[in-house]
Amino acid sequence: MKKVEITTTTYEYDSINELNHDEKILINKSKEAVKNAYAPYSKFNVGAAVLLENGEIITGTNQENAAYPSGLCAERVAIFYANSKYPNVAIKSIAVTAFTNNQYIENPLPPCGSCRQVIVESETRFNKPIKIYLVSSKKIIVVKDAKNLLPLNFDENFLGE
Ligand code: THU
Repeated sequence: MKKVEITTTTYEYDSINELNHDEKILINKSKEAVKNAYAPYSKFNVGAAVLLENGEIITGTNQENAAYPSGLCAERVAIFYANSKYPNVAIKSIAVTAFTNNQYIENPLPPCGSCRQVIVESETRFNKPIKIYLVSSKKIIVVKDAKNLLPLNFDENFLGE
């Protein structure tokens, strides 16, 4: 038996002012998007903003359903829409935040496992890292690619011919 350690690196910023102009725009788009969430059941309004290599920003929000499992997270709504609209354009980065109880969350929201898997797929598909910004009112966590968000990930390389 041997012990194998896999390390993940994140970068934490105390203020949006520590980030550059384009990063600020993306983060603010994710914050604006929360107002379009459809979250009548959880009242947890999530906004995601995806920056594409062509410069366009696509936003998405969580879409809930009375049949709970039929809903979808904001990240996947945004990524699937971006990849549907521009099937040949890589995603450069994604910012995610949430608004609940009349305020933006105080601790960044770690994307769920399914959303991590979908971010990995998009990264693998275009062979380009996707930078992730997890945004809250108190701090912003930056992860440099999806592999750092989902170590030991499953991807196309495991599938047979
Ligand atoms: N949600 C997201 O949209 N993204 C995440 O990364 C985690 C959770 C949504 C799903 C559901 O509508 C609500 O937040 C509460 O789980």
